[in-house]
Amino acid sequence: MRLRDLGKSPTIARCWEFQVWYVYWLEQHGESMAEERRVSIHGQWSSRWIFILAATGSAVGLGNIWKFPYITGENGGGAFVLVYLACIAVIGIPIMMAEVMIGRRGRQSPINTMRTLAKEEGRHPLWQYLGWSGVLAGFLILSYYSVIAGWALAYVFRAASGIFHGASADDVGGIFTELVSSPERLLAWHTLFMVMTMIVVSRGVRGGLEQAVRYLMPLLFILLVVLVGYAMSTGAFLEGVKFLFAPDFSKINAAGILIAMGHAFFTLSLGMGAIMVYGSYIPENVSIAQTSVIIALADTAVALMAGMVIFPIVFANGLQPGSGPGLIFQTLPLAFGQMPAGSFFGVLFFVLLVFAAWSSAISLIEPAVAWLVENHGFTRVAASVWCGLATWLMGLGTIFSFNIWSEIKLFGLTFFDLLDFLTANIMLPAGGLFIAIFAAWIMSKKSSQDELAMTVPITYSLWRFLVRFVTPVAVIVVFLNAVGVIGSD
Ligand code: TRP
Repeated sequence: MRLRDLGKSPTIARCWEFQVWYVYWLEQHGESMAEERRVSIHGQWSSRWIFILAATGSAVGLGNIWKFPYITGENGGGAFVLVYLACIAVIGIPIMMAEVMIGRRGRQSPINTMRTLAKEEGRHPLWQYLGWSGVLAGFLILSYYSVIAGWALAYVFRAASGIFHGASADDVGGIFTELVSSPERLLAWHTLFMVMTMIVVSRGVRGGLEQAVRYLMPLLFILLVVLVGYAMSTGAFLEGVKFLFAPDFSKINAAGILIAMGHAFFTLSLGMGAIMVYGSYIPENVSIAQTSVIIALADTAVALMAGMVIFPIVFANGLQPGSGPGLIFQTLPLAFGQMPAGSFFGVLFFVLLVFAAWSSAISLIEPAVAWLVENHGFTRVAASVWCGLATWLMGLGTIFSFNIWSEIKLFGLTFFDLLDFLTANIMLPAGGLFIAIFAAWIMSKKSSQDELAMTVPITYSLWRFLVRFVTPVAVIVVFLNAVGVIGSD
C-alpha cells in the first residue's frame, strides 16, 4: 500500500476513530482518574514535620508579636483575649482543618482547587471566586504586612547600634516616630522586605523556606521565654498578666468582638487560601486534625507569650496599652536597653521577628503565584516578580498613611487602618465562612470523611458539627452584631 492510500485503509480509519473516542473519554473521565493520584505540580513537603513547620511559619508572624499585643491593648485586655481564644477553638481550628482538607484534595492553587472540587461535587463553578477573593485578600494584606516587617528590619540595625541602651520611654518613642514619619526610609525597608519575600517565593515551597523555618521558629520561642523572664523582673509582671487574662466584659463591645474574631483568622492564616495552598503540598498520610491542633496551639502560645512580655513593660514604664501599631516598637526597646546583653538580645529578637514575618509573607502571595504558574504558564520567577511588583506598589499607600497622608481619613480611619480592617475583619471571616459552607454543606460527607481520615469517629462528627453549624452561625452573628443589627449596645 502506498503512503497516500493509508488514509483509506479501514484499519487505520478505525484507529483514528478509537483515538478520537479515547480523547473524548479522557475528557469525560480523565479528571476523576487523575483524582486518584492527584499530585501538585508545585511539589510536596518532604514530611509531615516540614508541613507543620511551614504552616506554623505561616501562622506565627507579625500577627502574634506585633498585632496581637496592640489590638489587645486597644480593646481593653482580658475580655478581648478570652473572645479571641474562644474564636481560635471553635472557629479557627475547624476552619483550618477544612482548608487543609480542601487543599489536599484539590492539590492546586486555591482558585483551581475550588473549581475542580466544585465540579467534582457537581456544584456551581462560581465557587472558584472563593479562590479569587482569597488571592485579592492575600495581596492586600501583604502590601501592608511588608511595610511593618520593614519596621522590624529597621529595628535590627537600631538595636545593633546600641541607641536603646539606657534609653527612656520618651527616647524610644522618638526613635519610632522618626522612622515612621520618613516615607523614604519606610520605602527602603519595605522594598528590601518585598525583595526578600519574592526571592524565597520564586524558589518554590521546597526551596529556601524549609531550612530557615526548621531552626528559627524554635529559637524565637526560646527567646520569648527569656523575655518573659525579663518581664518578671520589671515589677509590673502581675499587673501585665492581669490585664491580659482577667476579663472585664464592660471593656469590650461589638466592634471589639469582630476584631477578636478577625484576628483569630489573621493569626492562623485562615480565610484566604494560604493554608489551603500549603495543604495542597502535604503528603497523603498526614493527620489533618492533629496537625491543625498543634499549629493552633503553637501559634496561640507565641501570641500569649508576646503579651506577657509587652504588658509588664507597658505598665512598668507608665505607657499606654492602647497606643496603637507602634506598641512593640515603643516597649521592647526599653527592655533591651535595660537588660544585660540587651543589644545582643535586641538584634536577635528583631532578626527572628523578621524571619517570622518572612515565613508568613510567602504564604500570603503563594496562592497568586501558584495560580499564575498553573493557568498562565508563568515560570515561578516571573510570577513572583509580577506579584511582588504589584504588592510593592500597593504598599506605598500604607507607607504614606503614617506620614504624608496621615490626615486623610475615611470613616475616621487612615489608609492602613482601613486596609487592615477590611482584610482582617471582613474579607478573612467572610472567606472562612464560605470555606466552612463549602467543606460541610457542598462537599459530600464521603469526600470529607475520606480526606480527613480520622480514626476516632466522634472527632469527625464534632468537626462536622462545628463547621456545619457553629462556625457559620458564629461568624454571621458577629458580623450582624458589629453592624448593629442584633444585640448592639
Ligand atoms: N498569620 C500571619 C501572622 O500572624 C499572617 C499571615 C500569613 C496571614 N498568611 C496569612 C494572615 C494568610 C491571613 C491570611 O502574622
